[in-house]
Amino acid sequence: MPNDHPPEKARRTALITGGGRGIGAAVARRLAADGFEVWLNYCRDRQAAESVQSGIESAGGRCRLLPFDVADEAAVDAALAEMLKETTPFALINNAGLARDGMLGLMSTADWSRVIEVNLTGFFLVTRRLLPHMQRKRAGRIVNISSISGQMGQAGQVNYAASKAGLIGAAKALAREVARRNIQVNTVAPGFIETDMTAGLPTERIVEHIPLGRAGRPEDVAEAVAFLCSPGAAYITGQVLPVNGGLYMG
Ligand code: NAI
Repeated sequence: MPNDHPPEKARRTALITGGGRGIGAAVARRLAADGFEVWLNYCRDRQAAESVQSGIESAGGRCRLLPFDVADEAAVDAALAEMLKETTPFALINNAGLARDGMLGLMSTADWSRVIEVNLTGFFLVTRRLLPHMQRKRAGRIVNISSISGQMGQAGQVNYAASKAGLIGAAKALAREVARRNIQVNTVAPGFIETDMTAGLPTERIVEHIPLGRAGRPEDVAEAVAFLCSPGAAYITGQVLPVNGGLYMG
């Protein structure tokens, strides 16, 4: 089995929420390739998470599965307590997210609430539990996966845009709170990335508006996250890194 990773004691851990597929899975594979022991959160699809795990392991990396719903406070607390018995993550990637699109005048309270609960409250619940431990270690990186929709808005996504803009503000405030403890908090804002989430969208029509002329890949986002978790990003905090092919340059 290939073994390009640092010795056991040097291995840092990374928790990735919603890591069973799409961007989260690509981030997990990329951080594992950088030598992180990956703790992969998933919500329901155990088979998908196991397949990410076995891919990482067969490439010589390490991956543990940690199922919970990021919006379920009791489940978050219980799962993270188990993890914290073994390790404090150096990197936390708040990636779990979903969309329930619809025009605001017709949006149900359930669709508004679920999107805010998963995308924004999920960040709060997970980060709150890990933060005191990261602070004690005086080291850590937190990366929130926001969206271009949170930067520029998108018709039909008032709930989603609010949650994703909320993540940007939360990361900036938290960055100021924890900077003295040597913890950096940044946001990655993907544009149009080909995953299950965007599967039903008219790719060709959207790509016409993307200056780089193609849809993004989960791996494009994973590269940005890996950089923000690397030693090279030690002086970067409170920032938003867009990965959008030039679709929005604000
Ligand atoms: P995806 O739908 O393939 O992946 C989302 C992941 O989050 C899934 O594994 C899902 O099971 C998990 N998840 C959903 N609710 C959860 C919960 N309550 N608890 C734990 N896990 C949960 O979509 P994709 O594209 O990989 O999205 C990843 C992140 O990137 C999301 O936060 C999304 O909003 C964001 N994003 C995606 C863009 C795209 O174009 N695909 C663009 C901008 C942001």
